[in-house]
Amino acid sequence: MHLLYGKFAANRITMIKENVLILLNDQIELEAFSSFQYMSMHAWLENEGYPGAAKFMARQAEEEMMHMKKVFNYVIEAGGRAISPAITKPQEEFDSFVDVFETALNHERKVTEAIHNIVFESQNARDFTTFNFMQWYVAEQLEEESLFGTILDKIKLLEKDSSTFYHLDIELETMTGEEPKM
Ligand code: FEO
Repeated sequence: MHLLYGKFAANRITMIKENVLILLNDQIELEAFSSFQYMSMHAWLENEGYPGAAKFMARQAEEEMMHMKKVFNYVIEAGGRAISPAITKPQEEFDSFVDVFETALNHERKVTEAIHNIVFESQNARDFTTFNFMQWYVAEQLEEESLFGTILDKIKLLEKDSSTFYHLDIELETMTGEEPKM
């Protein structure tokens, strides 16, 4: 059984409510899983001959690790106990290039839902420090869903032209989302 709050938390900021702290630790796990999922997509794309898209996914995996660390460090700074997540095996096989990006977009939608839930619960608990901290993630999720949505739109256009994904793959090599500035 983990302590929810650090040993010396009494002398520090302890404004994270217990239910919010549990959700923040769940978020640490979800962000870590996102990173593993994108690493798995990176490997699949590389093996299937899409080096540009593979690099794109490798960058997404790194970003997710940064998202995970950001929550982790926040929990510690605010006097809570951050819990290192278990490694859950991500999806390894995909039906197609399109399937990879559809799976990624659906995953990001779940992440957005989880983040909105933390925002909602932190406001209910009058935990305005967490509420404020989570605004960066709200903006980041808008960016990520929009990025994956744009890529899927391009894929659908290419499918209509019955062309190859060659040019899109080259474009993906350098495509990235904007970091929210907060
Ligand atoms: Fe950190 Fe893409 O969710």
